Amino acid sequence: MKRSTALLAMLFLAASARAETSQEVFERRILPIFKSPSPSSCVQCHLAAVDLKNYILPSHRDTFLSLRDQGLIDLDNIEKSKILGLIERGKSDKSKGAVVHQENRVKEFDAFVSWLKASAADPALRNAPKLKPEELAKPPRPVEVIRHARKDRLLESFENNVWSMRFRCMNCHNEGTPQNQKLVAEFGERVAWFRKAGPEATLDYLRSSKLIDLKNPEKSLLLLKPLNIEKHKGGVKFEVGDQGYKAYRTFLEDYARIMADEYKTAAGLPAMSSFATFGTDRWIKLTKTPDAWGDKFLTVRIFAWDEKANAWEKDPIASTDRRVFGKGKLWQHNLTLMAAKDSDRAKRWKTGNAALPKGKYLVKVYIDQTGKLVGDWKKELTGDDFAGQIEITSDWKEGYGAMTSIDATGICK
Ligand code: HEC
Ligand code: HEC
Repeated sequence: MKRSTALLAMLFLAASARAETSQEVFERRILPIFKSPSPSSCVQCHLAAVDLKNYILPSHRDTFLSLRDQGLIDLDNIEKSKILGLIERGKSDKSKGAVVHQENRVKEFDAFVSWLKASAADPALRNAPKLKPEELAKPPRPVEVIRHARKDRLLESFENNVWSMRFRCMNCHNEGTPQNQKLVAEFGERVAWFRKAGPEATLDYLRSSKLIDLKNPEKSLLLLKPLNIEKHKGGVKFEVGDQGYKAYRTFLEDYARIMADEYKTAAGLPAMSSFATFGTDRWIKLTKTPDAWGDKFLTVRIFAWDEKANAWEKDPIASTDRRVFGKGKLWQHNLTLMAAKDSDRAKRWKTGNAALPKGKYLVKVYIDQTGKLVGDWKKELTGDDFAGQIEITSDWKEGYGAMTSIDATGICK
């Protein structure tokens, strides 16, 4: 009696343990990924332009051959397959933004391992003739676009364009500063949007907030508030065409186009600046500004002295802009520093305190006489707008109360 029950049980087990065919595994585990309207775990790093779905075709056979022919499967060592490497890529990132993709990733990984193992065990599949190149399933966008649409690239643009401009908002929106705490008490947490944890946390917050309008990026509250077009308690902090506006708008338009998957070719990508920018609480002030500059828009570009070359550096090391206060014959603003990307200077400023060393500097002044920036926010003030220059020595002390002050009557062409 005992023995026959055991036998029956064994027979039953053998029948139900019949291995699923690779097609069955595909239909049960891979097709749902293909058909799912939500993005795969790749979205942790790739905001657009590539998805796991791009590698899947409706038929299990075509999908297998397509991956095989692209070198994404290691037939003899499935665990080492490149497609699994892509899926596992974000596994070690334990940050809050990343772990939400973990569950999805494990599902995708397990599904692919089981299906690939079942498929690779089938000689008919392993040895099937190659697909035609046009039959392969792969991302529709070129690698340049895939690279541009990565989150780390977006973060870099955010650091250069939005994070670096945070001093233009004084301390009103910097989480945790005394000024901000006062405003939070009155207006709520929403005013603490420059996160203490840094640029990535700030970007993550803004992406989930109502401050960015992906359909009409130029109408984002992130622009309309500082322009005071949307009533802003902090008043007018941007003007169309100024450094802050340009930077925010550049970021917002690019971000909106990435998320809409609008970039199709390498040639269609925006030109990226070759400079990294850094915000500072170091100020420059021009006093006794001439009447001709009154209430005009003024840009300064500051050049450092290159001891070795015995000449001024070719590219500005700092700049800022704002409208002249004509009645007060006064102009002042905080500096944005810039350094060639990947230069030693950029690396130093990224890891430490971005500051100008004490030394000799050339300050060049440009005035928008015709209001051209308002007409076209992308325009820059150029040689035609040059109003004069002056050589100064400064140690660029930090803080509103310690500005580097220049008597504008000494500025000449
Ligand atoms: C943790 C971040 C991360 C995740 C998750 C991730 N990738 Fe990537 N991916 C990158 C990075 C960074 C690169 C840049 C090239 C490199 O370093 O290999 C890249 C490059 C690529 C490329 C080649 C483009 C080039 O630059 O040559 C493809 C294709 C790709 N990933 C597809 C995927 C797919 C499909 C997934 C999801 C299954 C995925 N990636 C998940 C970070 C990630
Ligand atoms: C003197 C303080 C002050 C300064 C400087 C300031 N703001 Fe504000 N801002 C506020 C206050 C207070 C609010 C909340 C009330 C309101 O919406 O106007 C606010 C609201 C905002 C909001 C809406 C936040 C939300 O979630 O509703 C945005 C966006 C914003 N400011 C952007 C900026 C930018 C960009 C700058 C700098 C270029 C700036 N502000 C400078 C005080 C300031």
